Parts: sequence; structure tokens; C-alpha cells
Amino acid sequence: MNGLHLGQTLTFTGDPCHEGPGAARHERRGAVLVEDGRIAATGAADDLRAAHPDAPVTDHGDGLLMAGFVDAHAHYPQTGIIASWGKRLIDWLNAYTFPEEMRFDDPAYAADVAGRYLDLLLSNGTTTVCSFCTIHPASVETFFEAAELRGMRVAGGRTCMDRDTAPEGLRDTAQAAYDQSRDLLQRWHRRGRARYVITPRFSPTSTPEQLSALGALWAENPDCLMQTHLSEQTDEIDWVKSLYPQARDYLDTYQAHGLLGRNGLYGHAIHLEPRERDRLRETGAALVHCPTSNTFIGSGLFDMPGLLAEGNTVGLATDTGGGSSFSMLRSMAAAYEIGQLRGRALHPSELLWLATEGSARAMRMNDRIGNLEPGREADFIVLDLASTPAIAQRAERASDIWEAIFPTIMMGDDRAIAATYLAGHAVQQPGRPSTSTQ
Ligand code: GUN
Ligand code: ZN
Repeated sequence: MNGLHLGQTLTFTGDPCHEGPGAARHERRGAVLVEDGRIAATGAADDLRAAHPDAPVTDHGDGLLMAGFVDAHAHYPQTGIIASWGKRLIDWLNAYTFPEEMRFDDPAYAADVAGRYLDLLLSNGTTTVCSFCTIHPASVETFFEAAELRGMRVAGGRTCMDRDTAPEGLRDTAQAAYDQSRDLLQRWHRRGRARYVITPRFSPTSTPEQLSALGALWAENPDCLMQTHLSEQTDEIDWVKSLYPQARDYLDTYQAHGLLGRNGLYGHAIHLEPRERDRLRETGAALVHCPTSNTFIGSGLFDMPGLLAEGNTVGLATDTGGGSSFSMLRSMAAAYEIGQLRGRALHPSELLWLATEGSARAMRMNDRIGNLEPGREADFIVLDLASTPAIAQRAERASDIWEAIFPTIMMGDDRAIAATYLAGHAVQQPGRPSTSTQ
């Protein structure tokens, strides 16, 4: 819907992680002009109202308009097992994850979870996600169908596993992984807002033949993203070394099979060797920080300060359901806490950038989403910076926008998301009043 949205606005003119908070621009009385699903202009409310006197106006009051959140790594099939107690990675996969993923051989179940998951994301202000599906093609179809129905820009792919380290029922072969991934890719990649992602789960559940087959598929479709996991837990790294004795390190298991590249997304990337850090940076591959998952499963502390300083590309993610939340606000809070333990207090502008433009850049989508900039798609949210009494009483004392927004980052949840817009259309959220136009 075309129109002018009024409120506080937050936009980025650069990358605050490298240029400081001055790379973010805040307007106390700002406006965003939406035309044909895209952002046509941003600026001061008075200026845009004068320039577009006939545009219908939606006034969001003190609400903060910003780009929708972008979650660069998640597992939608794990929605039902989020917050499962007491295990570390390998036991957690075997005890909770794999049994749940087996249920996705039922397309009706997959469709039900996909719809529920995307609605949870939208109510949490996430407008784009990069998700793993399961080995079942129907889990991919239902995910993309649910996103298409909602008008969401999403990326996802069939999770491939062919080693006997994965249970019977979740295993394929190198050839089946190639064939089925290719068929899904041909059906869904660039269909509307959908993007297919080539998805080997991780080296411990794939044979070298399967990694090579998926590497070949990527070489044939280099504009696709490729997502996987890397160096999440030390036990996992030992396991990789025992399964791939020739590999120089964990990353080498991907590199040797054509699975290291600029459009690669490597989830977790906590316990990296210097060679791995260098290769990832040189190829321009993206590391995806999953902070609530890293504390929940007990994986370790991502080296945000070091990796940013070295110039690595970093995105931010929930990693639902290893991550303990659907909310990118909660993910920013956890990234802040891990940053503190690593000796760098990430500034609110850095956290917000990582959760929007940073993740969009990691997913190579920052020409379309991630910032309220003319030409980008109008996927945006309205944040209520006083959504609970606890947050409101702290925000009231704020002397600038960063102090006003930080309590929402640290303590906010879906109640802070006053509205979510996809390509300029308001998402109707159950139990919330619909957004009205003046
Ligand atoms: N490594 C391989 N698979 C998974 C998964 O589903 N979740 C997490 N957190 N790590 C993984
Ligand atoms: Zn993951």
C-alpha cells in the first residue's frame, strides 16, 4: 500500500561496526514514503509531507520505524522442540532434533509448523529468515508456500545427510541429495521472494561424496546461497577430525569439496583456527553468530571483536530451536552479553545493524532489504520503546536515542513490535488492533 508512515526513524548510512554510531541516522519526527512495495523516500516528516501532500498518512506516534529484522540462520522444523532441557550439541541432536525432524515426512505436519513459525517470526519483527528445512522435499515446499502466502522474503533449503551418523529415516545418498536439491532449486529459487539455499547439514552427517555432489550443484548455481554449520563445539571438531583425517581443519572439509565461497553462510564459527579465519575472510564468506544458541547448548563465546577487527563478514541469528528464542531482540541482547565476556560492549547501533543490514549483507540481500533506504523493499517494523513498565521506566530517563532503545534491546520481546510491514503491507497480528490510516 502506498503511503507515508510517520514516527521516529532509524536508518544506516554506513556500517556502525566499523564507522561508529555516526553511521546510523535517527529522526525524531521522521517519515518513510512507500510506493509499490518499495521505499521511495525517507527523511524529516515535515519535508516529506510537504513534498507528498496527497499520500495517505499512517502516524505511528513515538514508534520507531526501522528495517525488519533479518535472521540469518534458523531451523524452522525445530519450532516444536525449542527450549529442550539439558543436552549439549551431539546429544541434543540425537535426543530432540532428529526425532522431531522425522515427523516432517508428513506434509500436513510440515505445513502446520511452517505457518506457525513464520507467524511467530512476524510477531517478533523478523521479516526475512534463512532456514534449514529437513531432508523431506515437502518440508521445503511447505516452507516456501507459507512464505509466499504471507509475502515474505525467505531463503531455505533441504537439509542433506547421508552418513550413518544420522538416523535411518533422515538419510539420503549423495545422488539423491544432488537430485532433490536441484529439483527444489529449479522450482523455488527466485520464484517471487523465495531464494533456494544449498544445505549440507554439517560435515559429520555427510560423506565426502555428498559434500562433493552439493559442491558441484553450487558450482552450477553460483548465485545460490550455501548454508551449513562450522566449529560450534569442541567435541564436534574432534569428531570431524576423526571422520576426515586428511582435512587440515574443519573448514577444510568444506573447502576440499567446493563448499567454501562468497555466498556461503557458516553458522556458529566459534572455535576457529587462524587458517580458517583467514580463508573465510579472503573468500568473503559470512559467519553467522547465534548467541542464544551458543549459551543455551553451551558451545562457547563467538569472537565478535576479533572477527570484526579482521574484516570478516558477520551476520546475526536465532538458530531456533538450538537458540532459545524466536526474537532477534533477544539475540541482540545475548550478542551484547557475549561481547561483554569477550571484552567489547557492542553499541546499540552495532547490534541493530547486525540484526538488519548486517544479516542482509551476509545473505547477499542488502540491495533489497535490511535498511530504510530508497529503492529497498518496504519490509519494516515499528518498535514501541516503552512496551512494558520495566522498559518504560528505564527509557524515560534516556538522554539520547541509544539510551532510549537499549532497554528494548535488552528486555524487549514481541510486545515491543507494534507493527510489521511486508512490502508495504501491514501484517495483521492476532490480538492486536489493526494499523489505521488517517
Ligand atoms: N549442527 C548440526 N545441526 C545442527 C542443528 O540443528 N543445530 C545446531 N545448533 N547445530 C547443529
Ligand atoms: Zn543451525
